[in-house]
Amino acid sequence: MTERASEKFTASEEIDLSPAPGARGAKGDVVLEVSGLDVTFPSADGPVRAVRGVDYRLHRGEVLGIVGESGSGKSVTSMAVMRLLPGTAQVKGSVRFDGKDLLTLSEAEMTRIRGSRIAMIFQDPMTSLNPVYTVGAQIAEAVRAHHDVSRQVAMDRAVELLDRVRIPNAKDRANSYPHELSGGMRQRVVIAIAMANDPDVIIADEPTTALDVTVQAQILEALAAAQDVTGAAMVLITHDLGVIAGQADRVMVMYAGKPVEVGTAEEVFYTPRMPYTLGLLGSLPRLDRPSERLTPIPGSPPSVVNMPPGCPFGPRCPKHTERCDESEPELRATTGAGHLAACHYAETLEGQEAADVFDSEVADHEALAGLAAAEGAGTGRDGEARA
Ligand SMILES: Nc1ncnc2c1ncn2[C@@H]1O[C@H](COP(=O)(O)OP(=O)(O)OP(=O)(O)O)[C@@H](O)[C@H]1O
Ligand code: SF4
Ligand SMILES: [Mg+2]
Repeated sequence: MTERASEKFTASEEIDLSPAPGARGAKGDVVLEVSGLDVTFPSADGPVRAVRGVDYRLHRGEVLGIVGESGSGKSVTSMAVMRLLPGTAQVKGSVRFDGKDLLTLSEAEMTRIRGSRIAMIFQDPMTSLNPVYTVGAQIAEAVRAHHDVSRQVAMDRAVELLDRVRIPNAKDRANSYPHELSGGMRQRVVIAIAMANDPDVIIADEPTTALDVTVQAQILEALAAAQDVTGAAMVLITHDLGVIAGQADRVMVMYAGKPVEVGTAEEVFYTPRMPYTLGLLGSLPRLDRPSERLTPIPGSPPSVVNMPPGCPFGPRCPKHTERCDESEPELRATTGAGHLAACHYAETLEGQEAADVFDSEVADHEALAGLAAAEGAGTGRDGEARA
């Protein structure tokens, strides 16, 4: 991510958008390659197509930001990579890591990889921490799970890791129980656990969402430190483009289970080629235009059960035409070979900003009319209006 981009976009002026040290510079080999990932859950209403054809390659030292509204399939994608989905999930595709397809490994092989080679950080640190052990003991345990070292060596490493994620008085804090720490400190402990075995990949799923903005900045710093120390590649998942503005090298925007725009952070932030991305950018406060009105995207994401044909963003898209209802647009190259967008009219967005495309009054009106029509006709297509 460039300085120019981090100057302009932010979720809050208190978030530090300075470049993450480990995330910049030359990128190495591919460490993780997800191809044709599909996840479907059975349900009484029909198959829930949570993830529909996700592809990405993650290079050593790189940060890939995955962004999208609630329900777009961000977490299910990562849980599929980690093989943490319930047995009812039908998973297709491949997840290549270290020359193997993780989707075909035995549970014992997968257990060796989880936590040591690929670490995951969740939104709520208490889901990862055990309330009855001290945080030092839990980090030491993570070290000993994958390394044959003494308790003392593991505990020394735990203190060092707490120090790396900037927990003050790390030696004393190692003896604290999770409930004795603030939410931000607990999340830093989880990051320390993720770093414990020098993973190749860290997947952080909404790591800052439960925290207030000042603490968010500290957590993003701790993540950058984790990446710097371990040299890991990182997948940073968030619904907030502001969070990835200063962190991600590349961005994948998801909608209704599919990637709808992929590119470098620069491409996605400055030359978006998918109206949905433009809408997300328009919903984001900008430091360089503090007085500008925000242009939220009207309506809600569609249900991923029994999806109608056509572009899933159609009911919310001001650029929608009849053609958009006929076929779902493929993800295809736009401004460059690596800049992909799933929109029939990607090229027409050139030079346009959210305010040129989304007129909130008109869009709300249309969304309401669409909702009334859908209700009247009893169709399953969502068109819920913004409150
Ligand atoms: N275990 C499950 N069984 C059935 N459906 C599921 C299950 N887990 C997730 N889903 C569905 O899959 C879709 C994608 O969910 P997912 O949790 O990946 O969204 P998300 O993008 O992470 O959203 P959020 O920002 O709210 O975390 C949603 O429609 C969700 O209801
Ligand atoms: S394909 Fe049509 S409905 Fe979908 S984003 Fe593009 S213009 Fe909008
Ligand atoms: Mg999620």
